[in-house]
Amino acid sequence: MQVFGVLTSLLALLVQLPGSAKTQLTGVQTIALPANTPGDALGLAELGTAEAVERLCARNITSVQYATALLQRGHLWECLNAFSEVDVERVLTEAQAVDDRAAAGRDVGPLCGLSIVVKDLYDVANYTTAAGTPSLTGNVPQNNSVLIDKFLAANGVVLGKTRMHELAYGVTSINPFFGPVLNPYNNTCHTGGSSGGTAALIAARATSAGFCSDTGGSCRIPGAMCGTAGFRPTSGCYDAGDGIVPLVPSRDTPGMMARSSNSAYEQAFTALQEAGVELVDVDFSSVQSFSDQLFPDVSGYTFEMPGAISKYLYRHKSDLSFYTLAEEIASPTVYSTVQGIVEKPAEVYPTLQDYINIFSTYRPQLTAMYNAKYDEAEVDIIMTPMTSVPATPISATEPYTSFKGRYLLNRDLLRVTSVIEPEIGAPGLNIPIGLGETSLPVGLQIQARSGALCNASIFSCDCGDFDWVLTTRIQRLL
Ligand SMILES: *[C@@H]1O[C@H](CO)[C@@H](O)[C@H](O)[C@H]1NC(C)=O
Ligand SMILES: *[C@@H]1O[C@H](CO)[C@@H](O)[C@H](O)[C@H]1NC(C)=O
Ligand SMILES: *[C@@H]1O[C@H](CO)[C@@H](O)[C@H](O)[C@H]1NC(C)=O
Ligand SMILES: *[C@@H]1O[C@H](CO)[C@@H](O)[C@H](O)[C@H]1NC(C)=O
Ligand SMILES: *[C@@H]1O[C@H](CO)[C@@H](O)[C@H](O)[C@H]1NC(C)=O
Repeated sequence: MQVFGVLTSLLALLVQLPGSAKTQLTGVQTIALPANTPGDALGLAELGTAEAVERLCARNITSVQYATALLQRGHLWECLNAFSEVDVERVLTEAQAVDDRAAAGRDVGPLCGLSIVVKDLYDVANYTTAAGTPSLTGNVPQNNSVLIDKFLAANGVVLGKTRMHELAYGVTSINPFFGPVLNPYNNTCHTGGSSGGTAALIAARATSAGFCSDTGGSCRIPGAMCGTAGFRPTSGCYDAGDGIVPLVPSRDTPGMMARSSNSAYEQAFTALQEAGVELVDVDFSSVQSFSDQLFPDVSGYTFEMPGAISKYLYRHKSDLSFYTLAEEIASPTVYSTVQGIVEKPAEVYPTLQDYINIFSTYRPQLTAMYNAKYDEAEVDIIMTPMTSVPATPISATEPYTSFKGRYLLNRDLLRVTSVIEPEIGAPGLNIPIGLGETSLPVGLQIQARSGALCNASIFSCDCGDFDWVLTTRIQRLL
């Protein structure tokens, strides 16, 4: 951790050119509150999203009061390095604008001035979209991504942007350029990734919810590591438009994270048991090995990432090329993986034909196998542990963690139950179920067939009348 701190300060010095946009974005973001800011005597930072919205809409609290409470909490937790950019004046101005509209008797629903955070992958006009990579620190879009436009039209307020794993290409949010995001439950541990900043701020009660994105677990894994709900919707449920830096468009989806109280979960669980629900084991090993065999992780990245990022840069009128961006990647792991993509000989596996086969043949087969598990067990919902381990120390660095005497890739250790869903577009929801042996959060994943849970509400964790089962998918690693 200290090594990263020193490295970050050094890098900050190196890029400290006069007037450079880069200087203000590196290092821990400070949250300077206006003088005479009142304390959070009402405990507003503790409110869950549903209750905050209810009280905002009832004008029981103002948007400015709520945002102020959250900014104060963010100020106390600056050390987490979870914010990539905060503009206190802008937050308070936008919150005040909602309060003014409400005072003038205008409709401010449905969000009524709720402020939440946004992953650094999303364009929010006049904020930097750096996607956690050095070469994009000058990228300040003038337009919002589609979802942010909808969020603002619903009278939401952006509280700030959050740090992430470089280019969303990793699962720890250990970022050598911007520094690692620290886990509020134990600040020597990572937060999971790639949406680590959003997860850390929800856990620290500096926001009640936030935008994330999920290509291979990036909403769900940090949710599990930080004890928050993390939701990957069915692919295509929400339009990413041109305003989210892409990774693998055939797997990417925007998602949401929110606090989710354990007591509500326990109540739901007790209610299920009282209703006589029987838990059944489902053996997923055939689906897992089919996926392992025919869906090399690298294929989506190889055949989609260069084109998708080039298109994002072109649409944003950037002078950068994908190759320059790739050359400037700071994380050694992300750098070498992306260089492997750039330099990959056409005849080496996976070839373009292997990639085409995925869409024409393997993906429909995998989808059918996956859905058949639900049909065989006669269930709508399958539950799995979200990850095989809780957050590990940051000092164990990327990309390996020592686990039961073996060195395993973080990607393998944390993504066992996250990678099939993106491949077939199915949804997954992480819900926190308490703290494990190491006093770090543990998550449980709820999965469903592709197309389900499109409109699931993670704010109230109302999962409806489903039959529940447990799977043994995670046992592959244990
Ligand atoms: C706001 O709601 C809380 C909780 O229901 C209540 O205790 C408080 O008196 C209300 N305050 C105002 C100003 O309405
Ligand atoms: C962005 O900033 C520019 C310059 O200050 C301003 O003209 C523009 O309205 C801002 N755009 C948004 C969407 O806030
Ligand atoms: C931003 O939005 C405006 C208005 O919709 C559009 O004309 C413009 O092309 C957009 N800019 C970019 C860079 O997409
Ligand atoms: C935090 O995690 C470290 C391992 O990185 C462990 O040694 C330490 O005991 C933990 N601290 C607490 C308060 O649990
Ligand atoms: C989600 O909600 C929208 C609007 O309420 C509705 O049109 C759509 O059919 C819903 N999707 C699912 C899968 O339930």
